[in-house]
Amino acid sequence: MDLEQLAALRTPEGSDALAAAARVAGGDPLAAAAALRSAGIPAGLAAAALTQAELRRRAAGKFGPAASGMFFTRPGLEQATRGVVARRRAHRLRKAGVTSLADLGCGLGADALAAAQAGIRVYGVEADPLTAALAEANAQATGLAELFTVECGDATAFDVTRVEAVFCDPARRRAGTGRRIFDPNSYSPPWDFVTGLAQRVPRTVVKVAPGLDHALIPAGTEAEWVSVDGNLVEAALWCGPLAETPRRATVLKEGPPVNASGSKGAPSYHLVDGTSVHQLVGSGRQEAPVGPVRRYLYDPDPAVVRAHLVAELAADLDASLADPSIAYLYADAPTSTPYARCLEVTDVLPFSLKRLRALLRARRVGRVEILKRGSALEPERLRHDLRLTGDQPASLVLTRVAAAPTVLVCQPVTSKGHGGSRQESVWPSDRGRS
Ligand SMILES: C[S@@+](CC[C@H](N)C(=O)[O-])C[C@H]1O[C@@H](n2cnc3c(N)ncnc32)[C@H](O)[C@@H]1O
Repeated sequence: MDLEQLAALRTPEGSDALAAAARVAGGDPLAAAAALRSAGIPAGLAAAALTQAELRRRAAGKFGPAASGMFFTRPGLEQATRGVVARRRAHRLRKAGVTSLADLGCGLGADALAAAQAGIRVYGVEADPLTAALAEANAQATGLAELFTVECGDATAFDVTRVEAVFCDPARRRAGTGRRIFDPNSYSPPWDFVTGLAQRVPRTVVKVAPGLDHALIPAGTEAEWVSVDGNLVEAALWCGPLAETPRRATVLKEGPPVNASGSKGAPSYHLVDGTSVHQLVGSGRQEAPVGPVRRYLYDPDPAVVRAHLVAELAADLDASLADPSIAYLYADAPTSTPYARCLEVTDVLPFSLKRLRALLRARRVGRVEILKRGSALEPERLRHDLRLTGDQPASLVLTRVAAAPTVLVCQPVTSKGHGGSRQESVWPSDRGRS
């Protein structure tokens, strides 16, 4: 898409073309193009409307129903923050008293729109003219144009004395190729500008890649990792007075909050859309105790692992590691927690394909999910080699216990949190223990 096509899509004819494209998008592209042409829509406008309709369909996963009225480019959509993550960040900024914000490199406006929706006056700056025009169109399409204005220009030249707080989500993909950039020094705006912002505007928030090296986190800054429904999606640095704790794992889930033990000082709450927000906080420097495998295994959420908060979670669950370098936790009781998935361990075997196959055959196991940490085995290869034939399900955990390659045979623990779905557990008798 170019600026001319965007302007055409925003005329009354463009809106009719978009409505027609929305009705046929998602099916056969040739048939869709033919349908729009037979409705008398010029070929260029029809093509732009169909591309836009397709992007809106894809964007629904990130933005929900609002996507159907917004404007996107493929790279802009790929780089945009998910609606729920942006809303939660905006909620936190608003709660911290922020009423005006500069979004330096605002893209097509996902974060800025959420902040405006939360009542914050947002000044967006975007270097790419088409992306800036999209952001402006999105502000209008969502009825937020009074609170979110966009200027096309270089974010490094923006006068930050105009605002109380700054947000920056630097581009981490190369323009043109779309390739990911792993070295923060190659971000745009550049990393030294981004990290220097906090000296000029203490209330600065920077979105960064979830793989961020902890060594790059400036002293006194809060580093937060965010997951949505178990998928790690981003990290953010909260600077100056916005920093409340050294490390935070924020776990966003649909539905009501689970009893969130251990989130002292960071209670769980609901966003307006019903998403529950769970926050585990801590220093990120503690070490969890190490002991034997116990009856229940907890697979921590990736945000907890990346935030180095496994020890804090272990303390909440009265759990320990079985290997100091592997983030599976083990406890004697199943505790309901939003920060980890809980499985009941029925068997512990040193890894041996033959023994595992024999055990699973004896249990008539035919379907397995395979989890792994600290194992070089390839789950799909193992699944094939097991040649399972039964009708029972099981979870296999490939890991190390006190440095030895080990497989744990497990059953999920129901959400009520007591006992596995299996009738007869062999734990803690020594059947299956070696
Ligand atoms: C990761 S995207 C922002 C996405 C946005 N937070 C969202 O959720 O929609 C980064 C944006 O910064 C813009 N950008 C990069 N360097 C810039 C600069 N020096 N000044 C202004 N914008 C810049 C890029 O064009 C890109 O659109």
